[in-house]
Amino acid sequence: MRRLREERDRLRDRIVAGRSQAVDRQHSLGKRTARERLDLLLDEDSFVEIDMFRRHQAHGLGMERQRPHTDGVVAGSGTIDGRRVFVYAQDFTIFGGSLGEAHALKIQKVMDLALSTGSPFIGLNDSGGARIQEGVMSLNGYGGIFQRNVQASGVIPQISVVLGPCAGGAAYSTALADFTFMVHDTAQLYLTGPDVVEAVTGESVTHAQLGGAQVHGTRSGLATFVHDDEESCLEDVRYLVSMLPSNNLALPPALPSCGAAADTRPRLAEIVPVEPNKPYDMRLVITELVDEGDFLELHEGWAQNVICALARIDGEVVGIVGNQPMVLAGVLDVAASQKAARFVRFCDAFGIPLVTLVDVPGFLPGTDQEYDGIIRHGAKLLYAYCEASVPRIQVIVRKAYGGAYIVMDSRSIGTDLSLAWPTNEIAVMGAEGAVNVIHRRELAAAADPAALRARLVEEYSEELVHPNYAAERGLVDDVIDPADTRSAVARGLAMLRDKRKQATPRKHGNVPL
Ligand code: COA
Repeated sequence: MRRLREERDRLRDRIVAGRSQAVDRQHSLGKRTARERLDLLLDEDSFVEIDMFRRHQAHGLGMERQRPHTDGVVAGSGTIDGRRVFVYAQDFTIFGGSLGEAHALKIQKVMDLALSTGSPFIGLNDSGGARIQEGVMSLNGYGGIFQRNVQASGVIPQISVVLGPCAGGAAYSTALADFTFMVHDTAQLYLTGPDVVEAVTGESVTHAQLGGAQVHGTRSGLATFVHDDEESCLEDVRYLVSMLPSNNLALPPALPSCGAAADTRPRLAEIVPVEPNKPYDMRLVITELVDEGDFLELHEGWAQNVICALARIDGEVVGIVGNQPMVLAGVLDVAASQKAARFVRFCDAFGIPLVTLVDVPGFLPGTDQEYDGIIRHGAKLLYAYCEASVPRIQVIVRKAYGGAYIVMDSRSIGTDLSLAWPTNEIAVMGAEGAVNVIHRRELAAAADPAALRARLVEEYSEELVHPNYAAERGLVDDVIDPADTRSAVARGLAMLRDKRKQATPRKHGNVPL
């Protein structure tokens, strides 16, 4: 017995140590090994490995002679800040982390355990894709993973971290996850690599140009978070998990109240200019509203005209959606609609209240947007808000015009609490534009059109645009001092904490995808 135990321990040590040459190569590429990454991600000594001794059963192409344990993926469970998560980390030092049948079954096993125990699921990807020697069995393995990604969607948070190549089918698991992290220089995410691209299209492109972190963080919108190195990346995965509930039936992890309900923030009125067209950084507003000025922004480099962030207000986790007047004047366009819609749906699925900060001149006009389907994509955001049953608070920070006003969580589509500032402009369009349309003939005939326009603009602004017009009609619940915004939102969240809304039974809605 003792001999058997010693043999097993020696084998375990050999497996954990890996092949030194391959480990050195991994390090020389600026990458950590699968086990080093898990050490960074998980609480110390919390990792419980599953299927360490598993090996592939493939035959042919010399595979019988090469049967390394783990089959190129380290899988199991551990904790983050004491909360259980299930993980896998692909091991590039074994078959380039490629996915064969046994490798896929290991990942599927931890996915099943994550789902049945209601725990977040995190995948660390570093892989050459489908293991070529295992043919269609590799592809079958991916299918089983995607199927589980979809079954787990909206039930447990799913996080995909790309720390090396992630090509072909593997890329889809990252798109199905709720959050995707990528690291500059080492992460590559694409369906077909540069060689195939060149062979098929003649286009010559590097790995980074095709699917690097920069590309997915700014253009495709696939990467939710982009980092310079693995350490800061895995640190941020821990930070993200600290704000997420373990599953859709659990509450988001709250901290004790920090007295936000009595907090005044006079700086808010200084940050937001009264002039409707003057740019400012909505991040500064968020900083004033959230606990310790601390928030986690998603898609920082993509669709920057809208901000999506997770933060805490009075200890409670909230999802913040805010127009960003600093970029494209904060208009809604195709990318911004997609970004905000997916975030709203995530928050709704996981019981995270929504705080929407509105300062929007409208949707971006033009043929580019119309041809790219702004109506279809804008409808996603509309759909997401209309469907959301979590507590919803709308704060109009400066202006809210037209269709974009409706979409940004207005009363008409179901916000629970709408707060305005006395300086707000809420209307179908800005005063200048409105006067030009409804008084065109009078202005053309006027002896002094400029003076007439100024008078009409003032009249229109006072009667129709002022938030009192909306407040008198119940579309705004309160007109507050900007300095009281943090406290009003904190009190609103407390008021709405027990909100319950039963959906009408149906198979599922038909969200405009
Ligand atoms: N199937 C089987 N083995 C694979 C593999 C795959 N899909 N991808 C990589 N490997 C193996 C390599 O044969 C190599 O094995 P070796 O150490 O015994 O020589 C090892 O993994 C490392 O790969 P290598 O090509 O040396 O690493 P690299 O860092 O230079 O390049 C990739 C990494 C991913 C760009 C490159 O391996 C690649 O293009 N792989 C194929 C990608 C692909 O088309 N996958 C199928 C589509 S889903």
